[in-house]
Amino acid sequence: MNHNSTIIESNSIKAILDQNKSSYIFLFPILLLIASYYKYQNESKSKSNTITKSKASASKMDQRPFGFWEPDLKWKTPTPKVYENWSIKDTKPIPYRAFKHKYNVNMGIRNMSWDSWIELDNQWKYYHDMKLKRIEEKGEDVWRISSKAIEASWEFLYELIDFTTVRYPTLFKYDKEKKILRITETNQTFDLNDKNLNPIITAANLVQDELVIMIEDPKDGQYSLEAGCVTMAGFWKFKEKYQMKLDEIHYSGNVPKYSTNLGPAMNKFFRRLTLDSPVVRNNYFIQLDNHLDWSKSIGDEDSEKVGWNAATNATSVKDLWFRSERQSVRRLPKTGAIAFTIRTYFMPITEMCEEPFVPRRLLNGITSWEEDVNEYRGFYKFKDVLLPYLQKKAKEQEANGLVLKEEPKNYPF
Ligand code: HEM
Repeated sequence: MNHNSTIIESNSIKAILDQNKSSYIFLFPILLLIASYYKYQNESKSKSNTITKSKASASKMDQRPFGFWEPDLKWKTPTPKVYENWSIKDTKPIPYRAFKHKYNVNMGIRNMSWDSWIELDNQWKYYHDMKLKRIEEKGEDVWRISSKAIEASWEFLYELIDFTTVRYPTLFKYDKEKKILRITETNQTFDLNDKNLNPIITAANLVQDELVIMIEDPKDGQYSLEAGCVTMAGFWKFKEKYQMKLDEIHYSGNVPKYSTNLGPAMNKFFRRLTLDSPVVRNNYFIQLDNHLDWSKSIGDEDSEKVGWNAATNATSVKDLWFRSERQSVRRLPKTGAIAFTIRTYFMPITEMCEEPFVPRRLLNGITSWEEDVNEYRGFYKFKDVLLPYLQKKAKEQEANGLVLKEEPKNYPF
């Protein structure tokens, strides 16, 4: 960093402050952003002899004072393998069919292999364009960075750059010396020296995922949503969940069995999550329209009250879409923040039901939902068209010689 330029910068800031004291309130967040930017840059430079084994065990993590994190400057996220022959035109979305014959409400997490942290495919441009349009139209309804998460947002961005530029070298070019990132498909460039760069929006430009940062509270050890860019969550709004604690996020969405099967385990899991134990989970929903960004069937996005009550019953299976998320959870080494990603896969039910074993398994899965899950997932709005259709397709496949015993067992299929 050039020392003279820093003096000039601080002199000019002082002049502005003297000129108009009421601008303090506006300048404060900008100063915080600049301070975090320089702090992050300096820490990055001091990185040496990196390792990939976390020094803290899960139980040690639990003994930390609430909100305390000692930056682990030696720990390094494992470098992913290059995705050979990955193509923005030909690499299809991973066909996750993450439903089982029997639905159980539990955390459903699995260990994540580092190579799979971020999964990109030939829908990248579609997601990218939709995200930019949503950011343009909705502004801070779909992204925010609180003062607690400025440093973590930069760290998340650098982690994503390190990962994506190595894993998908045809899509991203990063000049480490000059700190200039280029997305080849769109010809966008991002200057990482620019302290006015928005780290979370820049990160959102790179991946198809929604991005969230959770920070531990020094008072109660609970995690709250302190930054993120979530543009197409379908059934929930980022602005409503911003700065909520993990419990409140899920209670306000009436997530079934949160207080018994999920909440206590999740809070413990978040506190104990070590650097080297990232996880993933998959889920699925049936949607009554084909809007990836916001499911209009449950009400207008701008209306206060949205929910399945607002939806009218589906009349054709052609209107039903399969929405499935792959979520990842990991901790960031310098700030200790938790980075949460949500990648949505979206396709017509009718297309998916051409695949072997899918209709029977989906039918069994949906009919095993308990009443609270039915309410949460809008069962009564689509059951009259979906269940007979799945029954018919399952019987057709079985009559055509499908052997149920040969169904693959490897969740998420
Ligand atoms: C291990 C971590 C987590 C687990 C096990 C978990 C579990 C769940 C479950 C079971 C649901 C119901 C829908 C589904 O089946 O996915 C849900 C919904 C949801 N989760 Fe999580 N969650 C986790 C982390 C998070 C985080 C970090 C956020 C922060 C944004 C979050 C935000 C939400 C939201 C917004 C919903 C929808 C609630 C609604 O319908 O309004 N979850 N979660």
